[in-house]
Amino acid sequence: NSKLQVAIDGPASAGKSTVAKLVAARFSYIYCDTGAMYRSTTLKALRLGYPLDDEKVILDMLNDTEITFEPGEKQQKVFLDGQEVTNDIRQEDVTNNVSTVASLGAVRKELVQRQQDIAAKGGIVMDGRDIGTTVLPDAEVKIFLIASVDERADRRFKDNAEKGIHVPLEQLKKEIEERDYKDSHRAVSPLTKAADAKEIDTTSMSIDQVVDAISDEITKKQ
Ligand code: C5P
Repeated sequence: NSKLQVAIDGPASAGKSTVAKLVAARFSYIYCDTGAMYRSTTLKALRLGYPLDDEKVILDMLNDTEITFEPGEKQQKVFLDGQEVTNDIRQEDVTNNVSTVASLGAVRKELVQRQQDIAAKGGIVMDGRDIGTTVLPDAEVKIFLIASVDERADRRFKDNAEKGIHVPLEQLKKEIEERDYKDSHRAVSPLTKAADAKEIDTTSMSIDQVVDAISDEITKKQ
């Protein structure tokens, strides 16, 4: 069996990280959550009080920033300069500011390079917005996950409840729509489905069904 590159893209809260992690476990592949890299960058800039739209300031900061992952039980652990930030990067202030940082071309260039290094040997499932189009254009398997906004807001609401975060459903819906709009309309590698990606609408699918569908695509290419 060859060790493939699997790219999973799609809009906010479409369930990418949940299924990507399970698919990676099934094939003993590495899982890389690229959103966590943009989120960690945003968290650090917020903590330092830096202007989030200043490309030079944020790039200088990033060049002196280490973002690493460790396997965790329920979700992968994320470390920013050696300190665990797994929960901190999911808070509302980061979620609602990350698209600003992610629109900076120089920041994307640096993080894309790091992502390509992580994926170079194959045997990887990587999720994000631009994996199939920009980070891994030659990935053997490309998946584009979508779901209705209502379904995605519902999922985020339940995720939040587990973390003790309380934001009204209507507000979550608005936040998801705004983030999708920004991510799809930025100048540098906007969220878009790669021509050769397989689109899967997960609105009325179970997690297991989505994992099975993606696994079939991998098995076909191995
Ligand atoms: O996937 P997640 O919701 O954690 O991603 C957070 C944000 O990071 C996205 O809304 C987007 O602005 C940015 N992102 C990106 N490119 C990626 C992954 C995430 O621009 N490959």
